Amino acid sequence: MSQVTEQTTPRDSRGATAPIIQAIGVSRDFQLAGETVHAVRSVSLDVHTGEFITLVGRSGSGKTTLLNMLAGLDHPTTGRVLFEGIDLAEYSEKQFTHMRRHRIGVVFQSFALLPLLSAYENVELPMRIAGLGAADRSKRTHEVLEMVGLERRSKHRPYELSGGEQQRISIARAVAMRPDVILADEPTGELDSVNAAAIFGLFREMVTDDGMSVVATTHDRTLLDLADRIYTMHNGELDLTEVGRHVDADAPFKRPESAGE
Ligand SMILES: Nc1ncnc2c1ncn2[C@@H]1O[C@H](COP(=O)(O)OP(=O)(O)OP(=O)(O)O)[C@@H](O)[C@H]1O
Ligand SMILES: [Mg+2]
Repeated sequence: MSQVTEQTTPRDSRGATAPIIQAIGVSRDFQLAGETVHAVRSVSLDVHTGEFITLVGRSGSGKTTLLNMLAGLDHPTTGRVLFEGIDLAEYSEKQFTHMRRHRIGVVFQSFALLPLLSAYENVELPMRIAGLGAADRSKRTHEVLEMVGLERRSKHRPYELSGGEQQRISIARAVAMRPDVILADEPTGELDSVNAAAIFGLFREMVTDDGMSVVATTHDRTLLDLADRIYTMHNGELDLTEVGRHVDADAPFKRPESAGE
């Protein structure tokens, strides 16, 4: 999958790939009890192929709202989100369904596991829906459950798993489809530091080795080193805070005082 993407991704004059996801001046307002909440304010963000982006910011700063719009699960009040250059607002239902099933994997802050299915079945279901053959599904499900260290919990239902185990199942489910982009909302919020580092290490590997793109929110600053770019959300606005060691050193960025926090 990713090799195909690599070969077909359009490149600009400097050889850089065109963004796989592009948010252009995106805002999202919510109307609540007669008041307007400006959850995301005029945010522009390019997500390139083979790039690992982290989003940090206080609770309520707009991270989940932005990720939902990047995934096409919510629509901007103003501005546009493009996937491979095409405005998500122009996608037909069929195109959108295809994109969600095959191209983008989402890890929800609330896990969103199906309570009546086992861990194994939760991971396998999206592949079944996407029409993958039984042998492939079984191989991949075992593979990703092992990756997140939960092979031995495969028969458990979500309520028989700890919060951190449920979180790792939801990550395994997103990874199993081998999507081009993973959008992960606080994917390590329930994990201890060892497991959190392992998950971010896994993302880093998928980005470097397979050319996948990852956008992950986190409150854990010890994980930021693994990312290519670190953005901070503040009151709905997005700032490029720091560029990690993996990034093209010529890329433009600003480094506010808070960068070394
Ligand atoms: N459906 C909604 N209706 C009204 N207001 C909302 C809605 N969803 C989010 N908000 C508000 O928008 C703001 C941004 O919320 P969001 O969930 O994006 O924050 P966040 O950065 O993900 O926070 P956290 O770190 O706690 O997950 C908050 O003030 C929140 O109360
Ligand atoms: Mg959130």
